[in-house]
Amino acid sequence: MNSKLIIFSATALLAVAVALNFFFRSPERLHLLLGPPPVPGSRDRLHAAKIVVVPAAHGPESLAFDSNGRGPYAGVADGRILRWDGDGRGWSEFAVTTSQRKECVRPFAPEMEHVCGRPLGLKFHKKTDELYIADAYLGLKVVGPDGGLATELVSEVEGRPLRFTNDLDIDDDNDVIYFTDTSTTFQRRTDLNPRSHREEQTSLPPVLGPGLGAGFGQFLVSILNGDKTGRLLKYNISSKEVTVLVEGLSFANGVALSKDRSFVLVAETSGCRIRRLWLQGPNAGKVDVFAELPGFPDNIRRNHKGEFWVALHSKKGPLSRFAVFNAWAGKTMLRLPFSFQQLHSLLIGGKAHATAIKLSEEGSVLDVLEDCDGKIMKFPSEVEEKDGKLWIGSVLTPFIGIYDLE
Ligand SMILES: *[C@@H]1O[C@H](CO)[C@@H](O)[C@H](O)[C@H]1NC(C)=O
Repeated sequence: MNSKLIIFSATALLAVAVALNFFFRSPERLHLLLGPPPVPGSRDRLHAAKIVVVPAAHGPESLAFDSNGRGPYAGVADGRILRWDGDGRGWSEFAVTTSQRKECVRPFAPEMEHVCGRPLGLKFHKKTDELYIADAYLGLKVVGPDGGLATELVSEVEGRPLRFTNDLDIDDDNDVIYFTDTSTTFQRRTDLNPRSHREEQTSLPPVLGPGLGAGFGQFLVSILNGDKTGRLLKYNISSKEVTVLVEGLSFANGVALSKDRSFVLVAETSGCRIRRLWLQGPNAGKVDVFAELPGFPDNIRRNHKGEFWVALHSKKGPLSRFAVFNAWAGKTMLRLPFSFQQLHSLLIGGKAHATAIKLSEEGSVLDVLEDCDGKIMKFPSEVEEKDGKLWIGSVLTPFIGIYDLE
């Protein structure tokens, strides 16, 4: 791009920023301007979900059930993994991913995340009932059925540390773990430029919980930079060997194997799509696009029928579409004096909402469930179907949701 065009673009964006400041004063106004278009076939139902609060904790991102059906287990923002034993007994502490927990604060301290750990992907091995954990900072870990301190399995690949381990799925028969490293460049925790640290001053209503800034901006930084260094990896439990399967992914996130293990899916959050790596058959080794999505996918979970539930962090509005597919615009947005909350609000189109999409084994949309106005559910990170219910986690709320499928 030549320098005139850069100056012109920067000026135009600055003008847009000034105009947006006006819109920032009301999420309704912002939504009118930047709200995402409705998703065809969507059913506005998720506000009927029952809430289970996670006391003194925040952001139950990934949920898992053990082979006895106990749970869900949930990784929270202060680095602990908790287990829920029903309304009566509530939550108890199950495991941690590091012993360095002296200064770990509940519900959380974003600046301590890299020390306390941030368990994102959780999955039990069906045969051993060990819990495998993708910790954003501490890599791939495992803990036995009694919990406690998790053991490290993988913290580097090809001599370089994992930067942002995010999700995993297990092939229980072949003892192989498929997992993602979101980016080789960006960690979950990165600082925006100092001018932008203006959380307290923002007039924006708290779509995000309080104090999310430093723990969350990195997600935006990576997305707005157009980072494409995400990877899908494979860990062989018996040989302890790690293999890179796919590179060059745009914010590699959720992972799910197909029921027959013929392929593995990986969500590209900033690419707004799901890629499929064929593991068996004539296309083995090939990667294709499994589904294009109307928003930013987080975790993917397979149900008993072999269908996939995809949680969308948010739908994509006109601005996020533009910024994500034009890296220069995204980078410019990062240089403007927006706070994390303002940037997030711009990208999600003003208003919190929740969207879950069910895909067939072939990748076609079977169902779209939403809480369009974010009345109860917001920013889902995972949707797990079990016993006729959807169990819904979120990286940004202090609760999980349980929705009865009709
Ligand atoms: C895992 O490693 C073992 C031992 O090297 C090997 O026999 C096995 O085939 C590997 N499994 C997979 C699925 O790659």
